[in-house]
Amino acid sequence: MTASLSVPASYALHYLEEVDSTNSEALRLTTSARGEKHWVVAGRQTMGRGRRGREWTSKPGNLYASLLLYPKKSLTEAATLSFVAGVAIRQAIVDLAQPAGERINLKWPNDLLVDGKKIAGILLESSLEQGADNPAIVIGVGVNCAHSPNDTEFPATNLASAGIDINPSELFNRIAIKFNEFYEIWMQKNGFTDIRDHWLKSAAGIGKPITVRLGDREIQGVFESLDANGQLILLESNNKKTIVTAGDVFFSRNSVPAHDNNQAS
Ligand code: BTN
Repeated sequence: MTASLSVPASYALHYLEEVDSTNSEALRLTTSARGEKHWVVAGRQTMGRGRRGREWTSKPGNLYASLLLYPKKSLTEAATLSFVAGVAIRQAIVDLAQPAGERINLKWPNDLLVDGKKIAGILLESSLEQGADNPAIVIGVGVNCAHSPNDTEFPATNLASAGIDINPSELFNRIAIKFNEFYEIWMQKNGFTDIRDHWLKSAAGIGKPITVRLGDREIQGVFESLDANGQLILLESNNKKTIVTAGDVFFSRNSVPAHDNNQAS
């Protein structure tokens, strides 16, 4: 994998055949890499982690990559970088898999779906070192190219099973290019507005009924849009608008595009 990996100028690249977690490795780099942009890619992870403390199964054949950045923005603004990663991953797959890539949707907050099943997740973490002005942001990207777990609550699949053959290295190279392009847009004043527009164009469930699981309770409503910070705007049945900061989204029957057959509520 390593020989064929490449990143745009101004990024450093680290390849490890095996690591505990590329996010952990990127966070370890913060002690020496202040201000620089580093991609960490691994062939497999022994302790891959997902959102909400979940394990991320990390056998060889899928893509495991993390980007360390120091954007000169507030932590609230930096949190919207997961949407930059989402649109970049989607565009990379669309570019490499025309026309099959059009089957790929974005799922709030940080997932990608093919035919309504999860194929990729994004884990954003941060660390603020003593004396530093800006936090270090790590954006972890896991894409199921060749295999996927079959015991997840929200159904998962992989690109190969969906008939989309892309190897992890070519996918990574394309993601690195697309991420850089969307990051340049995001860095501009009000840049998240443009990213949000991109994201909404390919989002699953907009204008449709959804269920959002918030830890120990669930709320239902219509997925109206995203607010200026990337939070989900939910219109509940009493016409009350609720802003959801974190949670797991499940779609109702017919709330995702026609080729999506997932239903979880
Ligand atoms: C999720 O959907 O829960 C997020 C999954 C993020 C997985 C990636 S794989 C590369 C990076 N390293 C990790 O340990 N996690 C992220």
